[in-house]
Amino acid sequence: MRFHAFLGLAVVLVHSPLTAADVTTTISAQSNRGTWDGWGTSLAWWAKKFGDRTDLSDILFTVKKSQFLGQSLPGLGFNIARYNAGAGSSNSYNGESMVKSANILPSRQMDGYWVNWASENPTSSSWNWTVDRPQRQALRHAIDRGATRIELFSNSPMWWMCKNHNPSGASDGSENIQSWNLERHAIYMANVAKHFKDKWNVQFESVDPFNEPSADWWRADGTQEGCHFDIATMATVIGYLRTHLDSRKLSTIIAASDESYYDQAVNTLQNIGSTAISKISRVNVHGYQGGSGRRDTLYSLASAANKTLWNSEYGDGDGTGMNLVQNLLLDFRWLLPTGWVYWQALDGGGWGLIDASNDSGQISGVNQKYWVLAQFTRHIRPGMRILDGGNDNVVAAYNASAQKLVVVAANYDTAQYINFDLSSFSQRPANGTAIARWNTQINGGDRYVQYSNTTVSGAKFSSYFNTNTVQTFEVTGVVL
Ligand SMILES: *[C@@H]1O[C@H](CO)[C@@H](O)[C@H](O)[C@H]1NC(C)=O
Ligand SMILES: *[C@@H]1O[C@H](CO)[C@@H](O)[C@H](O)[C@H]1NC(C)=O
Ligand SMILES: *[C@@H]1O[C@H](CO)[C@@H](O)[C@H](O)[C@H]1NC(C)=O
Ligand SMILES: *[C@@H]1O[C@H](CO)[C@@H](O)[C@H](O)[C@H]1NC(C)=O
Ligand SMILES: *[C@@H]1O[C@H](CO)[C@@H](O)[C@H](O)[C@H]1NC(C)=O
Ligand SMILES: *[C@@H]1O[C@H](CO)[C@@H](O)[C@H](O)[C@H]1NC(C)=O
Repeated sequence: MRFHAFLGLAVVLVHSPLTAADVTTTISAQSNRGTWDGWGTSLAWWAKKFGDRTDLSDILFTVKKSQFLGQSLPGLGFNIARYNAGAGSSNSYNGESMVKSANILPSRQMDGYWVNWASENPTSSSWNWTVDRPQRQALRHAIDRGATRIELFSNSPMWWMCKNHNPSGASDGSENIQSWNLERHAIYMANVAKHFKDKWNVQFESVDPFNEPSADWWRADGTQEGCHFDIATMATVIGYLRTHLDSRKLSTIIAASDESYYDQAVNTLQNIGSTAISKISRVNVHGYQGGSGRRDTLYSLASAANKTLWNSEYGDGDGTGMNLVQNLLLDFRWLLPTGWVYWQALDGGGWGLIDASNDSGQISGVNQKYWVLAQFTRHIRPGMRILDGGNDNVVAAYNASAQKLVVVAANYDTAQYINFDLSSFSQRPANGTAIARWNTQINGGDRYVQYSNTTVSGAKFSSYFNTNTVQTFEVTGVVL
């Protein structure tokens, strides 16, 4: 989950090697940087507020054009949705009840299903399956529109499993789950996954029982749900979770640990132990280290352990899309994730793709960041092979059955031509063939405008990039 004011500063401005006028980048037909799993968003807060709105699910989970706030908006085509199992409930039991942070916003309080510790049986009155209807509705709308990869995640164990009964964290940011409830947290996740499958026909592909567990900023006076877990505790919970998924005959895989920073994820993987690693199928990491951190080390560790890797939560407060495009291209260059998930599609303060008030429910506009992201999500599609674009600021993807090459490139420097060299491909379109091109000006101006004046010239094509633009190209008739 996103956090802290210093984030904007943590994003180091990336200096492009594409500084000289008229530079050339060579797309490598031989490279293979993984098969793309897809793009998505976490549900949680925005879905609690806006989960009933199908205009939102249309623009987020389809590639169709639809009407939104009086304009025709091309959909982002997300296929990943992350559902947040809440940690709160308003009941009392045996004289005990949840302790609420003085600073938590109502929009960030997520209702959980296991409302007291009397029974692990999900059909008993210790479980309330009617809570959290709007977030479930948002999930249903997403699946109905073609979302195929559904993940379950937790920000904190249920309040009554927490040492201080406060699902925002411990007063000092230390581990807040009671030692005798480690298995119960796993049972909570497994019972939720089972109930969704049996009652609501929702198959969670993956479950992550933690959220930024190494962080020390999950505090009793925090503004959202959160819980620190020590690494040894994570290993124990992962063991229980595999057991309880298996005993319920769920093939749901375990993803872990949704650390905030690339470097924290490295540390967790290096210390969690081989037993836990054998039970983790995918490494999930968040993108809040911005322009810093060893993305490359995390990729090396994950691939050496034969794990796929997602940036399962990226968010920033820069509504222009500049931070997003810089960090996304760094991810493609060094992290090599096969999935990429934005945190809150709707939020305030520049955090949303769509600007909206977290608590009042007012939706005020489409941030430029939406259009910047569309340049990627509408073209780099699930199942495509990711290729090396030959430059820090270029990513390429290939659809073999359509013989289609997609190239997305950004220019942060002075306006210049960028030449894209396709000479490594065995077949290319004939000289003069038109190439589809879309352009977005990162800080305003063009919003995903399509142009048709780009053509193949020999083994290359070229395009003029204004400062701070991102362009997407689709080239057909290309064979690796
Ligand atoms: C279950 O949750 C619903 C929705 O929040 C609430 O109205 C109801 O009172 C809860 N049931 C019990 C038994 O607490
Ligand atoms: C790597 O993981 C994949 C998918 O889980 C599995 O099919 C394959 O056997 C694994 N390979 C090795 C060498 O462990
Ligand atoms: C919504 O969240 C953003 C980011 O944390 C914050 O800047 C903004 O003030 C919040 N808005 C409301 C109305 O709470
Ligand atoms: C490749 O393109 C074909 C034809 O447009 C489409 O049906 C298919 O889904 C695409 N595959 C991928 C992996 O994008
Ligand atoms: C294509 O059109 C854009 C926008 O009108 C213009 O800036 C660019 O110079 C044109 N490129 C060529 C090669 O004509
Ligand atoms: C491609 O076509 C252009 C203009 O039609 C021509 O000037 C150029 O020589 C051609 N290049 C090759 C490699 O055939």
